[in-house]
Amino acid sequence: MENFDFYAPTKMLFGRGKAAGLMKEMKPFGTKVLMVYGGGSIKKNGIYEAVKALLSENGFEVRELSGVTPNPRIEKVREGVQAARESGAQMVLAVGGGSCADCGKVIAAGTLYDGDPWEIVKQPERIKAALPVFVILTMSATGSEMNPTAVITNPETREKQGVHSSFLYPRASSLDPTYLYTLPAIQTASGVADIMSHVFEEYFKRTEDAYVQDKFCEGLLKTCIKWGPVALTEPEDYSARANLMWAATMALNGLCACGKAGKWSCHAMAHQLGAYYDVTHGTALAILTPAWMRYILSEDTAGKFVDYAVNVWGFPRDQDTFTLASMGIDATEQFFIDCGLPTHLSELGIGDRDLEAMAEAAVPYAHLDTMAYVPLQVQDVVNIYRSCL
Ligand code: NZQ
Ligand code: ZN
Repeated sequence: MENFDFYAPTKMLFGRGKAAGLMKEMKPFGTKVLMVYGGGSIKKNGIYEAVKALLSENGFEVRELSGVTPNPRIEKVREGVQAARESGAQMVLAVGGGSCADCGKVIAAGTLYDGDPWEIVKQPERIKAALPVFVILTMSATGSEMNPTAVITNPETREKQGVHSSFLYPRASSLDPTYLYTLPAIQTASGVADIMSHVFEEYFKRTEDAYVQDKFCEGLLKTCIKWGPVALTEPEDYSARANLMWAATMALNGLCACGKAGKWSCHAMAHQLGAYYDVTHGTALAILTPAWMRYILSEDTAGKFVDYAVNVWGFPRDQDTFTLASMGIDATEQFFIDCGLPTHLSELGIGDRDLEAMAEAAVPYAHLDTMAYVPLQVQDVVNIYRSCL
């Protein structure tokens, strides 16, 4: 196992009615809040009214920034920075999914940065401070509620860029599983695919003796496989929502990554699909993951795929290595299909026009040619994209 620091400073308030507890966490930071939310789901499902009532009861003055889109754009961050400055916001409260949390985080840093916020997305070492960030989560997938990451898209440069800074950790987040009840099935399914991908990106790494992390990973994957279909057939099943919500947080709060070396593969490829075609993040991952797994399966990697097939899917070990490895990959693909996710880019209307350009951007983005689990050159990435068509 490699050396590591594990730092996870966000206070997590989990369970029914926990948004109320977040108010107590916010109070020490002042009274002026920039409330960041998306395209209107919280107005339809009543979360907006509930949160506004809590803020009012607790004496907060609120400036709102609505209209954060999935794959949040830098333009919305700029608008948020202006709103925060005009209103003298002392903190940012994001109410929504990963997109709102990510947008809120960069607004929080951008407000205290003297320059254009895209500069801090590209060069996070320039972040020296941020307003305190709080999150009321309404979609479980990204882990943004407990991590120091944000992902912002710049349509002008066709970039979708991750930014990491310890200043971006939310101070506290509330996770009420009942807030997930109104998620459309495709968002629930995309969320499950995203959680699983975060785990795969850590599970399939070169460090071989991070046994405890691998067991965390297998447990999280089994959680998705057990509860994902339940949440899809019974959207108001509390146990399903609760287990998926906590699995999403645990999949990307640094826990699974401890002591493991290397870079992520599928996310680098998926981010290009987001930048070029505005594809839903988890959907892109559901399409890419089985293709990537098949592409990298070899004598060298088969052992790990066998562990995956046996420990996660429960296939008996009494078969030859490649058969077993392929059974695990096929089961993954079938699971995504059963969740109602697309398996081909053509289903999203995407053809082969931009494959080279996307591959050329994906490789340096995550040093795929040197630091991926199986190093990938530009042509390899093109081949993977092409096999997804
Ligand atoms: O905008 P509204 O109207 O709120 O609708 C949203 C949005 O359309 C809807 N939604 C959310 N909660 C709902 C709901 N609809 C009904 N009921 C609810 N309770 O769901 C749609 C998707 O929301 P979004 O926030 O975009 O989803 P997600 O949480 O998957 O976030 C995706 C973004 O996070 C980035 C992705 O790349 C993408 O931009 N990621 C962030 C990461 C991080 N910060 O660590 C890591 C991830 O790998 C990922 O890259
Ligand atoms: Zn992801």
